[in-house]
Amino acid sequence: MPSLVVIGAQWGDEGKGKIVHLIGKNSDYIVRYQGGNNAGHTVVFDGKHFVLHLLPSGILEPGKKCVLGNGLVIDPAAFKEEVEFFENRKIKVRGRLYVSLAAHVILPYHKYLDTLRETASKSGAIGTTRKGIGPAYSDKVGRTGIRVADYLEPELFQTLLDQNLKEKEPLLSQVKPIKQIRQEIMKDYRELRDFMEQFATDTTILLSNAIKKDQRMLFESAQGTMLDVDFGTYPYVTSSNPIAGGACSGAGVGPRYIDEVLGVIKAYTTRVGDGPFPTELNSAEGNYLQSKGQEFGATTGRRRRCGWFDALVVKHAFRINGIKRFALTKLDVLEGLDPIRICVGYKVGSKTLSNFPVSRTLQANSVPIYKNFRGFKGNLRELKDFSAFPLEARRFVKEIEKAVDAKCALVSMGKSREETLILDKDFPWLQ
Ligand code: GDP
Ligand code: IMO
Ligand code: MG
Repeated sequence: MPSLVVIGAQWGDEGKGKIVHLIGKNSDYIVRYQGGNNAGHTVVFDGKHFVLHLLPSGILEPGKKCVLGNGLVIDPAAFKEEVEFFENRKIKVRGRLYVSLAAHVILPYHKYLDTLRETASKSGAIGTTRKGIGPAYSDKVGRTGIRVADYLEPELFQTLLDQNLKEKEPLLSQVKPIKQIRQEIMKDYRELRDFMEQFATDTTILLSNAIKKDQRMLFESAQGTMLDVDFGTYPYVTSSNPIAGGACSGAGVGPRYIDEVLGVIKAYTTRVGDGPFPTELNSAEGNYLQSKGQEFGATTGRRRRCGWFDALVVKHAFRINGIKRFALTKLDVLEGLDPIRICVGYKVGSKTLSNFPVSRTLQANSVPIYKNFRGFKGNLRELKDFSAFPLEARRFVKEIEKAVDAKCALVSMGKSREETLILDKDFPWLQ
């Protein structure tokens, strides 16, 4: 039953899609356990570039079974569109993709509410993807949500829909009359419902049977620990638990069945949307990272904010997720910068912090303390052996290991899975 959870240990977009695709070839099941189509996971495969929003990155590997767990919020229209996108490209999806009956659905009114909240006041905006994620999770926790199982029962669905529209009318009527929203939903309902039915099942039974048969499980997180609703930079977070613990509640798998957690980190830091970001660079160096790293949001196309590697962020994430091994991505992007830096502490007034603070006031006022290192030159992407890397690049990796107290198992220096080196010979997940 070997099982691995792959999480992002910064603010998302660490390269989880690439790493899951790489490890996924040795897994039997690839399971998403939280989030929705706010995610954008890029996989470069056979020279083609795919962005997955809802489907696990393992879907590109023929024959692998893929699961969307109960912890997700699923927009039925976005789901259908994504499945058809892959099927139109001759990637067989039906028969190996399973959707939890207990996942919640995102309906158009969730997206309207998301946009209303984002536009109501500038100071209250989070910079969400406006995919309806927050409002759908609010309904789930508020016990008014509609689950996939409810969506499949037409009478029950309409009763729940009407209750929701009535409750939300004071806000929704700012967008359009609820009668019109209802019509919008009912216009496509039959088609979307019938489509969803082909995939919906009790995924806990499927997963528990697979575990009994010793199948290899790979849990794929969306977003990153700094966007976690409990441990991220609240309120500038998403509305779910991307941390490894979320795999248990979001897939219905007991903690005893999780063997390891792999953290994915970039050699620098990025963030899309608003919120504190102590090492953010509003300078030529930030622009260099942004343009060389092609840092644009895979879901919204927004320019990602860029900054130096922040060891306080990653230490915080590794502590919460129990990480001892990590994959380091985008080392190639640092090439050409000199010096390169790692943030090892924060100054707030006369105080020095060595751990990422919980207080939003401290987060907003933290000034990074850096350790500087010599930059490196040369195209890492062509190198097949870590010992052939420039000394400065190798030293930077070692310094990251030291700063975050964990071992670098994989180094990624390009988009494709071939552009990855295994540094930890005991890393079992690619064997
Ligand atoms: P995810 O959300 O964590 O899966 O990450 P995204 O796909 O949103 O963003 C990561 C981006 O970096 C994608 O465009 C990847 O193709 C790209 N990428 C991943 N690893 C590397 C790497 O080692 N080097 C470079 N240059 N690009 C990479
Ligand atoms: P992947 O899986 C980066 C950010 C949004 C916003 C905040 C809340 O590709 O790493 P939401 O729409 O979830 O309510 O927005 O979270 N965000 C992401 N940032 N990568 C993601 O996913 C993200 N998903 C949400 O930009 O700041
Ligand atoms: Mg992404």
